[in-house]
Amino acid sequence: MNKRVLLGIAMVTVGVFVLASAYSQEDITHIDHRMFSQPQRPSAIFNHDEHNEKAEIEECNECHHVYEDGQKLEDESSEDQLCMECHELNDMDRRPGLMKAYHLNCKGCHLKAKKGPILCGECHVKE
Ligand code: HEC
Ligand code: HEC
Ligand code: HEC
Ligand code: HEC
Repeated sequence: MNKRVLLGIAMVTVGVFVLASAYSQEDITHIDHRMFSQPQRPSAIFNHDEHNEKAEIEECNECHHVYEDGQKLEDESSEDQLCMECHELNDMDRRPGLMKAYHLNCKGCHLKAKKGPILCGECHVKE
């Protein structure tokens, strides 16, 4: 193969990889719970894109936030990071531990919006 063909293949490969990772949120149906060493509940239902469309959430950083000195940065988002990259299992100063972070974020909004599940079995659905 000549150099140009090889370069073409390399660029397509990189392109597919970038696309696949950029759109991986479309495939999320449940929240991964493997970081809890012995999960007690079935992992929570969350159809990422469908949920956010139905709930009419405009800003990614409603959930994927970035804080600096205790202030949420309105123009920044952290969708390239997992919640657990910043939230450990236990609370750390003002950062709630992972389970609390999810419950505050998910249930907190559902309570405020008076829409969306707030009962354990509605999110942690037995398959
Ligand atoms: C709005 C959705 C929602 C509701 C309602 C909810 N949870 Fe969760 N919960 C989550 C998410 C998201 C996680 C983190 C990912 C996971 O474990 O599925 C989580 C994690 C957990 C965990 C840690 C992981 C595990 O399985 O051990 C426990 C325990 C838990 N929830 C118990 C409860 C209990 C008890 C209730 C009811 C009082 C409840 N949850 C209600 C969404 C919810
Ligand atoms: C209602 C909350 C919420 C909103 C709004 C939201 N996301 Fe997410 N997103 C999540 C959760 C929760 C995960 C799973 C994170 C984890 O497992 O730590 C996730 C995962 C992702 C992932 C995959 C991360 C990975 O490494 O696998 C991407 C990419 C992503 N979101 C992009 C976006 C973009 C872009 C927007 C705005 C258009 C957005 N999200 C809006 C909650 C949200
Ligand atoms: C880049 C790091 C980072 C990522 C990624 C991150 N957080 Fe946070 N989060 C923080 C910090 C720092 C605070 C403490 C904010 C303060 O100082 O009050 C916080 C606070 C919170 C709080 C309490 C304050 C509030 O906004 O209600 C919740 C709930 C929360 N995070 C949920 C989540 C969830 C759910 C995800 C994943 C979708 C996530 N966080 C991803 C850094 C992060
Ligand atoms: C900023 C607000 C907001 C946040 C944050 C949020 N939700 Fe919701 N959620 C909604 C609203 C609003 C609905 C109701 C949508 C409708 O049916 O009109 C909903 C509905 C749902 C439903 C019902 C089925 C569906 O997809 O409509 C599930 C399950 C759910 N949410 C899980 C979660 C989980 C798990 C999280 C945390 C990772 C979360 N939600 C975070 C606002 C939110």
